[in-house]
Amino acid sequence: MSESQPNAAFTPRVFSGIQPSGNLHLGNYLGALKRFADSQTAGIQSIFCMVDMHAITVWQDPEALRRQTRELTAGFIASGVDPEQSILFNQSQVTEHAQLAWIFNCVARMGWMQRMTQWKDKAGKNQQNASLGLLAYPALMAADILVYHATHVPVGEDQKQHLELTRDIAIKFNNDFGVDFFPITEPVIEGTATRVMSLRDGTKKMSKSDPSDMSRINLTDDADAIAQKIRKAKTDPEPLPESVEGLEDRPEARNLVNIYAALADLSVEQVIAEHGGQQFGTFKPSLADLAVAKLEPISSEMKRLTADPAQIDTILRRGSERAREIAAPIMEKTYEIVGMVR
Ligand code: TYM
Repeated sequence: MSESQPNAAFTPRVFSGIQPSGNLHLGNYLGALKRFADSQTAGIQSIFCMVDMHAITVWQDPEALRRQTRELTAGFIASGVDPEQSILFNQSQVTEHAQLAWIFNCVARMGWMQRMTQWKDKAGKNQQNASLGLLAYPALMAADILVYHATHVPVGEDQKQHLELTRDIAIKFNNDFGVDFFPITEPVIEGTATRVMSLRDGTKKMSKSDPSDMSRINLTDDADAIAQKIRKAKTDPEPLPESVEGLEDRPEARNLVNIYAALADLSVEQVIAEHGGQQFGTFKPSLADLAVAKLEPISSEMKRLTADPAQIDTILRRGSERAREIAAPIMEKTYEIVGMVR
C-alpha cells in the first residue's frame, strides 16, 4: 500500500490499544495482551491504552463502559503488564488523542475510510445509519499511535489494514507539510495466534460481538466454562494430522492446535510432534487443562483487582499524566506545523 520511509530518527516506542467494549476473550489475550508483556520485558518503552473513545463509535451503556474500562485495565495487569514499567491509561483522559484525530480527519481521504473492511463489516448494509465516528475510527487510531511517535504496534491480524492506513496518514501529513515529523509505524503481528477463530466456526474470527458465548473463551470464564467450551468446540471427525501440512483445509483443527501452541509457548510443529495422530477426544482434554492452567490465574487476578475500582482509577489517572507528558509536546509541534496560532 505505502512506501516505507526510514524511522532511524525515532526512538523505538510501542503503543497498542484495546476497546473496553466487554467480553475480553482468548483472541484478545493471545493476539494482543499476552504479547504486550513481552515488549515490556524487552526494555522498550510501552504505552497501552483502553480506547474508550473508540468504544463509543457504537452505543455503550455508560455504567457498563466504566465497568468494562476498569475490567480491561485489570486484564492488562493480570496478563503481566506492569503499570509502573509501562504506561497504562484510558484514551479519554489524554485529550491530545482527540485533538490529533481532528487534524488527521483533515489529512485522510473519505475513500480511504470507506475502503476499510471493518467499516464495511460493522456498518453493514445500513451505512447511512452508522455513526460518523465509526467511519472516522481509523483516523483516531492513527492519532493514538502517532501522538506518541510510536514506532511499533503489536496487534492481531485483523488490525493490519488500520495500521497500513496509519502509515498512509503519516506519509501524507509529512508530504503535505514538507516535514519528516511522524514515523512510519511498523505493525508487529507475530506468533501462532494472530487470528484466533471462533470455537463454533473455524472460518470466523473469535469476536466479542458473536451472539454465541460458546464461540469464545472469555477471560472472565471459570474453569468449568472453559473446559465445557473446548469440549463442545466444533471439529471434524479425523484425528489430528501427523504433519503441519495436514492442517490445511481443516480450519477447526488448525485453530485448536494454534491455540494450544500459543498457550504453551510452543511452535505448531512441536504441538503436532507431541499430539499428531490423537483423536479430539484425547486432544481436547489436554487443551482444556492447559487453557485452565494458563487462564484461571488471570481471571482470578482480574476479579481481585476489579474489587478495588478506586485503585484502578488511580492507576489510570497516573498513567494518563505520564502519557500526556509525551503527547502534549508532539501535539503542540503538530499545531505549529499546521499553522495554528498558539
Ligand atoms: P480490539 O479491541 O477489537 O482488539 C484488541 C486486540 O485484540 C486483537 N484481536 C485478536 N487477535 C487474535 N485473534 C482474534 N480473534 C482477535 N480479536 C481481536 C486485535 O487485533 C487487537 O490487537 N482498533 C483496535 C483498537 C485500537 C488500537 C489503537 C490498536 C485503537 N487504537 C492503536 C492498536 C493501536 C481494536 O478495535 O481492537
